[in-house]
Amino acid sequence: MNRPFSGPRYQHIARQLKSAIEQGEFAPGKRLPASRVYAQELGVSRATVEAAYGELVAQGWLERRGQAGTFVSSGVVPGPSAPEPVWFGGEQPEPQPFQMGLPALDLFPRALWAKVMGRRLRTQTRFDLALGDVCGEMTLRSAIVDYLRFSRSIECMPEQVFITTGFAASMTLILQTLGRPGDKIWLEDPGFPLIRPLIASQQIAFSPVPVDEEGMNIEAGIANAADARFALLTPAHQSPLGVALSLPRRHQLLDWAAGREAWIIEDDYDSEFRYQGKPLPPVKSLDAPQRVIYAGTFSKSLFPALRTAWLVVPAPLVAQFRQQASYAACGVPLLWQHTLADFIREGHFWRHLKKMRHHYAQRRQWLEQALTEQGFEVIPQHGGIQLVMAVKGDDRELALKGRRAGLAVQALSDWRINSQGAGGLLMSFTNISSLAMAQQQARMLASAIK
Ligand SMILES: Cc1ncc(COP(=O)(O)O)c(C=O)c1O
Repeated sequence: MNRPFSGPRYQHIARQLKSAIEQGEFAPGKRLPASRVYAQELGVSRATVEAAYGELVAQGWLERRGQAGTFVSSGVVPGPSAPEPVWFGGEQPEPQPFQMGLPALDLFPRALWAKVMGRRLRTQTRFDLALGDVCGEMTLRSAIVDYLRFSRSIECMPEQVFITTGFAASMTLILQTLGRPGDKIWLEDPGFPLIRPLIASQQIAFSPVPVDEEGMNIEAGIANAADARFALLTPAHQSPLGVALSLPRRHQLLDWAAGREAWIIEDDYDSEFRYQGKPLPPVKSLDAPQRVIYAGTFSKSLFPALRTAWLVVPAPLVAQFRQQASYAACGVPLLWQHTLADFIREGHFWRHLKKMRHHYAQRRQWLEQALTEQGFEVIPQHGGIQLVMAVKGDDRELALKGRRAGLAVQALSDWRINSQGAGGLLMSFTNISSLAMAQQQARMLASAIK
């Protein structure tokens, strides 16, 4: 007997379909209903049905035939197949409402990813079983160089790119290569709190620098700690306030770093998503004095479980970084790196980004509308994958109330170091797939905190 199945909705649907195919109810070659029609019938979103179809395509039960639709694969033999997998309950839970740091999990083209990876897996040679380049595979580093040239106006060589397992690993590589105990680092205040313990573990001291409507206040940074060796910041879209670092401040920052021989760490984690206006070029693209270390990640543009990020280091630092990287070797498996390189080279990455910009603008607008309907005030931002809602009173207490009601909101105060300022709730809209869902979550938030 099958064990009771607990998992996301699309997997229930996939399992039911698979069982119908096994029983011969859906014969090989039969066309499945269009996902829109089937979704209406089941009372679920179209994306859920698409995800179920995608799962069965990846497993070989279904096949897509372009415009003609989705069909039961011709090679399928009805009758009981392999036993159902046993579920150990170790599945990833569904994201909580408003959960930050996640891209839209429902919109990632998993079947396409599986196809690209499957092809790589089938065509592997024995050499792919050996350890790869300690700095990351050249195919992937070259694909990143092309992406940065077209999308971010950054000119660099593949040798300057280092593949890591995420932003924390990138920071570790930087600090282990260049840091010395007792060094100071400018941090945005408010800013991303999760990186602070890692910096502290390298015995580097924080110098909090306030953020205003022009981004990090460079003058304040110089006044407080002109002798810092590093400045870590999110110039494209400040995390969490969403402001862009103004052009005069970008030049001020570069002048300070050049004069003091300090290193700027530009965290460009979600710059791909901007919905209004033209983005300013990254600080790295203005880096004549070669003081900028640029950090990117695929966690937001693709998915966080990929654990793939990268650094672009100034050419004079390549040998030092290579040496440090060789102590640990690149942590991203070769198969993932090759798959990702193919995914970029074949244009899937660009298409996905384009699609996601459109969806995120829509999802953001749904949440903004839903929160406004509940009388909340959303602070305007031009891009990114999270938003800030202004609140009066103690935002920590309100965030706690929200979390007790199962809503993954965060208090702006928890992202502050020394700065004082208005309270806010930080939340993500990426996994809100309809206006109705946004309205339901906004109502839950209102009843939790009002
Ligand atoms: C400010 C900031 N930088 C970088 C990252 C990327 O982290 P990772 O590449 O480890 O997923 C995140 C993820 O939430 C972030 O919020």
